[in-house]
Amino acid sequence: MRRILLGIVVLLVLAAVGFFALAWRSEIEPVTAGTAAEFDPELVARGAALAAVGNCIACHTVPGSKAFSGGLALPTPFGTIYSTNITPHPETGIGQWSEEAFQRAMREGVDREGNHLYPAFPYDHYTLVTEEDNRALYAYLMTREPVDAAVPDNDLPFPINYRPILAGWKLLFFDEGEFEPDPDQSEAWNRGAYLAEGLGHCGSCHTPRNRFGALESGGHWSGGEAEGWAAFAIDETSPAPIPWDGDSLSFYLANGWHPHHGVSRGPMAEVTENLGTLPQADIDAIAAYVASVMGEPDAERQSRAQQILQEVESGPEMQAVNAASQTEAGSSDEIGAAIYQSACAVCHEGVRDLPFGGLHLSMSTAVNAPNPQNLINLTLYGLPAADGVRSAMMPGFGAVLSEEELLALFTYIRDRFSDQPEWNDLAERIRATRSGEYHVRVLPSDGIERGPSNIGASNDDGDT
Ligand code: HEC
Ligand code: HEC
Ligand code: HEC
Repeated sequence: MRRILLGIVVLLVLAAVGFFALAWRSEIEPVTAGTAAEFDPELVARGAALAAVGNCIACHTVPGSKAFSGGLALPTPFGTIYSTNITPHPETGIGQWSEEAFQRAMREGVDREGNHLYPAFPYDHYTLVTEEDNRALYAYLMTREPVDAAVPDNDLPFPINYRPILAGWKLLFFDEGEFEPDPDQSEAWNRGAYLAEGLGHCGSCHTPRNRFGALESGGHWSGGEAEGWAAFAIDETSPAPIPWDGDSLSFYLANGWHPHHGVSRGPMAEVTENLGTLPQADIDAIAAYVASVMGEPDAERQSRAQQILQEVESGPEMQAVNAASQTEAGSSDEIGAAIYQSACAVCHEGVRDLPFGGLHLSMSTAVNAPNPQNLINLTLYGLPAADGVRSAMMPGFGAVLSEEELLALFTYIRDRFSDQPEWNDLAERIRATRSGEYHVRVLPSDGIERGPSNIGASNDDGDT
């Protein structure tokens, strides 16, 4: 008996030693912050473009404060993680980081002192970035204005607050290593794949996650979520009524809208705002790669799309006749139809072209998707105006429609503008969204949040 016990103790000690050996990373010596002049301006410019693809500024800046100074709260199912200050400030930023330390953070998710980083920092994608591109990113960050700003401590429960356990997470879920081009594909395709899978980290929102917050293997781009929004499938299961192709994707990613797909919203608005600054060749490469992941739509989808486009072009008179003949007097469908006609049709079947007019809802992914979340978010909170520029706008109806009315409205919209089955989680999602459970982040269509105010949160008050 004692021998067995001893054996177990020895095994446990060995396991612990093994774990620490695995978890341990050395500190990389601090350096004195390099002066801006030491970096080649061309390298810095390249880094700026790469930082836009990586959307670094969105996570590393609290709206209204200095760029890259960190402190943005990222709610996760496990607790709140705060982004760090990545300006070259020597104490509160990464001013003491050598290029080697930065390269390691991007590739392995380890900070300069050797601590494992949480994958809220999407190094599970950034690991694909080449050494050369990381050098440019480093040059760009090191030439930003240093900002003295300490960030709050993470608010995570034990044992998740204990960083060495991240070594176990990495062992299970993290594949380290640079992007390897596929020799059977064109150069542009490989460029697109490199940008989308690596710095663009499309999968961090568009791929579903498991209980451990890791990307589901086998679920690549099949639809995930981000900041209270559904990030629709962008693989062959894309629910878009009018199938995407290379041209429409390229236009949408560069401009943040498309006449057959509407305006990009929520966290995607930030993505398109940033991608819009890229050279056209890079946008086209990403679009071509995404289109190849989606594949060619089958004949049935194509003919349905043709039918939708014809109906939309047939004009509002025809549609109104059709709609009227479909609803029964006094039914909940009639209530939904009445709300739609008075509150929505004026813009969504109106005469203004996109992006300032609304999309005909039979072309809307939000209405045709398996998940009603984005339709709910849009109707409750609308699309706020972007400062100083002409932008797509929609009022929020959170304060004027009751839960029953919203339910009737969405049931009617789904029935009339899609051939998909009813949503069975609709009532529950309306309730949970209104009570603020999903922390919906509402952004204007240019993706730039001007202040710390969250329209979503303020509208949640008093609804329940
Ligand atoms: C989705 C949000 C998100 C994006 C996008 C993002 N980061 Fe971060 N980043 C974080 C979070 C959160 C942390 C802190 C992780 C932790 O505390 O373990 C972090 C940490 C870091 C660190 C470690 C700094 C330190 O002091 O430990 C570096 C370096 C970094 N990010 C650079 C970048 C760069 C460069 C980009 C763009 C290419 C980027 N990040 C994009 C969320 C993000
Ligand atoms: C921070 C999270 C996030 C990232 C990163 C992200 N997306 Fe999205 N994306 C979303 C969300 C949320 C939506 C749905 C928004 C909406 O309803 O407009 C969306 C919508 C889209 C759509 C429209 C789908 C449709 O049928 O309407 C496309 C296409 C798309 N994303 C492509 C990409 C590509 C390509 C990348 C990488 C370069 C990317 N996204 C990165 C969150 C993200
Ligand atoms: C004052 C004009 C206006 C009104 C009223 C309005 N919308 Fe919108 N809506 C817009 C604009 C502009 C957009 C952005 C363009 C787009 O994507 O359709 C938009 C976007 C949408 C989208 C996203 C479509 C997509 O997939 O791109 C949905 C869904 C939507 N609105 C639903 C509604 C509903 C439901 C109502 C009525 C309760 C309504 N809207 C009332 C102007 C309006």
